[in-house]
Amino acid sequence: MILLTGATGYIGSHTWVKLLETGYEVIGLDNFSNSSQHVIDRIEKITNKKALFIEADVQDKFSLSDLFKKNQIEGVIHFAALKAVGESVQRPLDYYSNNLNGLLNLLGVLARFDCHNFVLSSSATVYHPENPIPYVEGMPLGSTSPYGWTKYMSEQILRDLEASNPEWRIAYLRYFNPVGAHPSGLIGEDPRGIPNNLMPFVTQVAVGKRKELSIFGGDWPTHDGTGVRDYIHVQDLARGHVRAIDYLLNQKKSLTVNLGAGKGYSVLDLVKSFEKASGQKIPYQIVDRRSGDIAAFYADASLADELLDWRIEFDLDAMCHDSWRWQSNNPNGFED
Ligand code: NAD
Ligand code: UFG
Repeated sequence: MILLTGATGYIGSHTWVKLLETGYEVIGLDNFSNSSQHVIDRIEKITNKKALFIEADVQDKFSLSDLFKKNQIEGVIHFAALKAVGESVQRPLDYYSNNLNGLLNLLGVLARFDCHNFVLSSSATVYHPENPIPYVEGMPLGSTSPYGWTKYMSEQILRDLEASNPEWRIAYLRYFNPVGAHPSGLIGEDPRGIPNNLMPFVTQVAVGKRKELSIFGGDWPTHDGTGVRDYIHVQDLARGHVRAIDYLLNQKKSLTVNLGAGKGYSVLDLVKSFEKASGQKIPYQIVDRRSGDIAAFYADASLADELLDWRIEFDLDAMCHDSWRWQSNNPNGFED
């Protein structure tokens, strides 16, 4: 059985579905600090399977120990974390505390129950911002926000653990910019409050929840002056997790890979693609650059191809179509 922490969140829920569809037994865990209970019913509806779930905090040792006592867990995918970059600058202690104490506590329980297969949700934000693009796994690391440092430190903690005991097998998955939603339109990204990320902001403008998009900077050194990122369909990302778990269990080795499309698109490219996919006009205004942003980054995704036989199946148009289907079917997210 595979344990997913942060299972009812955006990436966790899509991965849960993929694992069940692949034939894995899964148990989900979440404290609902950034997700809805309705996700569980939706997962059951999509997969036609029972979704085993426990409401708990990864910082709660007793609940975790109880879970490991009652279930034969052979691997863990650890999504549970706080993830808003700007908020992490305002509330660094909450981020270090939740993301690092949660990880340490979970690893302590895993060690006690001899469960050594672990997948970390890492991020492109662990690459030093001065690296040339595309980012390759061996490049220097660093970060620009407390959130980013929690991912950097999480990687370091796990590397030290691996060095201490060769039984540990860790997949360090560095995600680029996940967007899109399940093609059923039943699950998708449902941020609380004003979205920080581009795609949920665009979809909320499209359903009339927000008046216009603010584009942060029109004078970046990119092909049209707007920021360039590597958008990856959440369905492709979810499939990457299934491949990573297969790899840990079968190859019995650790790995560090980028999960990105390997291509960069600008904010305006995404807006144009979204308008085409949705038939909706997205009014926008170019405003000042957002502090902490960089002009462009995208992945070299060839190592994931080589080690996991994984490559993307969905392009930017499909990402926009699926994001739109999700948002237009669920204008208020899971609270409809
Ligand atoms: P999300 O907020 O939708 O999901 C995270 C889930 O973890 C939420 O359901 C939340 O309730 C839960 N959670 C948080 N702290 C918890 C705790 N202490 N105990 C139990 N549950 C807890 O975020 P997401 O986009 O699905 O991201 C999943 C993971 O991927 C995170 O670790 C995030 O840092 C990482 N990541 C996300 C992105 C992105 O752009 N979405 C990019 C790179 C990495
Ligand atoms: N952008 C806008 N307007 C908005 C939101 C974003 O113009 O309202 C622009 C940004 O300036 C950037 C691009 O859209 O050029 C993408 O911005 P996001 O906030 O969607 O994504 P980031 O690349 O800034 O960061 C995201 C996650 C981080 C993660 C990183 C790499 O938020 O946690 O991807 O995985 F580390």
